[in-house]
Amino acid sequence: MRKKIVAGNWKMNTTLQEGVALAQGLKEALAGKKVNCDVVVCTPFISVASVVEAVKGSVIGVGAENCADHDKGAYTGEVSASMVASTGAKYVILGHSERRQYYGETNEMLTTKVGLALENGLTPIFCVGEVKEERENGTFKAVIEGQMKALYGLSKEDFSKLVIAYEPVWAIGTGLTATSDQAEEVHAFIRESIAKVYGKEVAEETSILYGGSCKGSNAPELFAQPDIDGGLIGGAALKVDTFMPIIEAWK
Ligand code: 13P
Repeated sequence: MRKKIVAGNWKMNTTLQEGVALAQGLKEALAGKKVNCDVVVCTPFISVASVVEAVKGSVIGVGAENCADHDKGAYTGEVSASMVASTGAKYVILGHSERRQYYGETNEMLTTKVGLALENGLTPIFCVGEVKEERENGTFKAVIEGQMKALYGLSKEDFSKLVIAYEPVWAIGTGLTATSDQAEEVHAFIRESIAKVYGKEVAEETSILYGGSCKGSNAPELFAQPDIDGGLIGGAALKVDTFMPIIEAWK
């Protein structure tokens, strides 16, 4: 059975102190509760190590929101996968649409980043998704297939370590959620694409998360779809009160 996951992406929000307080609040809210999914928080680099400490003894996994496409060296301002792993973090979001759009991340760079993340024992949460125009002109499946190709040089064993997140760009931070049918269509398409390259067994074991204005009110319907294995949550992950109902949507 593939894993159910609810992961927060804090993006460029929270100071160190705010981040630690948010993580502690989440730990307290989860204490003693039966949780039916893996819970992950991906935080700004500056908070990762402290959040790892803050959530010790809880079910919460911690990740970064990006890593460098180099192992080490003269890359001022960059943070490598090995540095992320050295904090005790287990996850890294890669290929988020905001990275692709504002920081020019290409498939080639992402292939390198995914390789470095895996070498360092991190689980990449690899994001794909179309922009509004691609949804409207019907090219969205080709776009997503193109983004998935950044991963298809991986061995079967390595690919099996990934988590995929489908995040339609037009639904991110806009309050416009994909309908559960729209999301399911793409999730099933991604799973078929994986099956063609790695076989049905690998495809069936790959967790594919939905992201884009996911909240407590729409999570139950989205998560009820057969190919949606959880969520990658932006805005609603910034408060315990809005994040918990999404976790609790996995009954
Ligand atoms: P929102 O939940 O704020 O729409 O963000 C989704 C997202 O980009 C998560 O990575």
